[in-house]
Amino acid sequence: MPEVLAIDFGEENVPSPAIRLDGLVLERGGKAVIDGLSLDLGPSGVTAFMGPNGAGKSLTLRLIAGLIAPTAGTIHFAKGRPLPQQIALVFQKPVLLRRSVRANLDHALKTFGMARRERPARVAELLALGQLEALADRPARVLSGGEQQRVAMVRALAASPKYLLLDEPTASLDPQATAAIEALVMRAAADGVRVILVTHEAGQAQRLADDICFLHKGRLLEAAPAALFFQAPKSAEARAYLAGDLLL
Ligand SMILES: Nc1ncnc2c1ncn2[C@@H]1O[C@H](COP(=O)(O)OP(=O)(O)O)[C@@H](O)[C@H]1O
Ligand SMILES: [Mg+2]
Repeated sequence: MPEVLAIDFGEENVPSPAIRLDGLVLERGGKAVIDGLSLDLGPSGVTAFMGPNGAGKSLTLRLIAGLIAPTAGTIHFAKGRPLPQQIALVFQKPVLLRRSVRANLDHALKTFGMARRERPARVAELLALGQLEALADRPARVLSGGEQQRVAMVRALAASPKYLLLDEPTASLDPQATAAIEALVMRAAADGVRVILVTHEAGQAQRLADDICFLHKGRLLEAAPAALFFQAPKSAEARAYLAGDLLL
């Protein structure tokens, strides 16, 4: 049985995990691209997955989201597998419908089963949350990358999900647009949404994450509180990654 790396939250606060990954294996092209991943994720806060390209970060998010099934191992949610609208995903490149910002948000709420008469008020809340009021009636696809990602973020939050999974959500954005997305992530976490973030930026992980999971070649090499990880990474691979060395 592989060792379960658990985040130590301190003695006064020993929560049961919200999500337990147990011995996850995912085979692709005849090899294990996720290779015995065991991890307990606590009930609240922001966890960042870091690691070089190809480490298995995106596939791990997809496994947690239930978009793909593992070859072996289990994913256990303490409160039962969430409904699709309770587990929201945001990717690096937003995929928006070819209609207005307002209509994109309305469509998401309709998909989640919200009644027509209730939707305008919730759309207005989401527009305010994303500071998108002035852009509400513009076609979503003509917005800047940062504006589109704000739409994708508030759309992801539309149904008040329990889990928010973010796969390099600011990788193609400038610092100002990045700051706006980070503010939305912090707000969601403060509101009790369990956030799992894939990021390459150590600065972003330090700003947002409570704990860090470092993946390399499909294996979880470290899981530690963020401050500890950045001060004293345990593995040579994590040290090299943080130093900016090309890891293969
Ligand atoms: N369908 C596939 N066939 C073969 N290899 C795959 C397939 N899908 C993903 N992989 C490999 O799995 C590894 C992990 O992918 P991914 O989770 O996307 O990495 P990252 O950490 O960069 O997000 C990569 O080496 C990728 O090439
Ligand atoms: Mg990826």
